[in-house]
Amino acid sequence: MNLPLSTEFHTENSAISDFRTEVLKGLNSHPKKLSSKYFYDKTGDQIFQKIMQMPEYYLTKCELDIFQNKTKEIADNIIINNSPFDLIELGAGDAMKSSFLIEYLVQNGVEFNYMPIDISGNILSVLNDKLSQKVPDLSIIPLEGEYFDMLNKATEISTRRKVVLFLGGNIGNMDKEESSHFCRELRRKLNPGDLVLMGFDLMKHPQIILDAYNDDAGITAQFNLNLLVRINRELEADFDVLQFQHYQTYDPLTGACKSYLVSMTEQKVHIGNNEFAFEENEAIDMEVSQKFSPSDIDKLAKESGYYVLKEIRDSKNWFVDSIWQV
Ligand code: AVJ
Repeated sequence: MNLPLSTEFHTENSAISDFRTEVLKGLNSHPKKLSSKYFYDKTGDQIFQKIMQMPEYYLTKCELDIFQNKTKEIADNIIINNSPFDLIELGAGDAMKSSFLIEYLVQNGVEFNYMPIDISGNILSVLNDKLSQKVPDLSIIPLEGEYFDMLNKATEISTRRKVVLFLGGNIGNMDKEESSHFCRELRRKLNPGDLVLMGFDLMKHPQIILDAYNDDAGITAQFNLNLLVRINRELEADFDVLQFQHYQTYDPLTGACKSYLVSMTEQKVHIGNNEFAFEENEAIDMEVSQKFSPSDIDKLAKESGYYVLKEIRDSKNWFVDSIWQV
């Protein structure tokens, strides 16, 4: 008997069916919404790599400055009495920034496992290749899946104390309520004394922020539109990508930097047997990249049950890695 190769039978895997369920739910909502966590398929990973190299996109450069030039400061704060630990990275991507810390820890004989968690199996294998070349002595345990599922898995694998990295300003992709819920959920998975190192993009001149998400070359636009391409391919849909345009906003009062895809015409889109009607100029809510004031960060830490151990900023004062203790 032949096994079905496509997703047309009941063998559809759970990742695809979660994706389908969320997309259908989002497009049935008013206003329509898609989740930016699905930006990262193979093409999305590549476009995000391009974004990180754009002159306008300062976030990665700032956090890289911290991990390259303040490595010892980070290490001194996460090494406690030489006790071995698990270094768990949520949304590790290609581990470009954390690899500087990892290399430093290995060179200094610190005993730890590195457990990168990412929803993209593609980027995890890139990471695994790169890192085992750069740091051959590293014990690395990649975990592919949703953050909390994989965090559970990590605690099953090892009972060591935990140091959780959540870098890049990824916390900014959640709205205020979601981020505080996320931090509380994270704390419930940890033990007293465990650490979290979280990267926050700070509020700064609004134009600098807007430019980072509204590049002239249209790479960020491509990044957003690629989700429609992905939906077409994986969910048998018929988005006409040319009939949607990227639109970006930044609100300096709330710190919310938001992206939308605007329908250029009145049109209908099909996903499997479902039909969605778009008005001319109707917007899909795509992504929020929240910017923080220092007091926003303190408040988030305290209300979700952490003590702020240390804050490490880049030389421009645009980005902060904040180290919290449960
Ligand atoms: C990977 C979530 C940190 O919000 O800055 C970049 C994603 N979106 N350009 C961000 C992103 C548009 C990025 N994060």
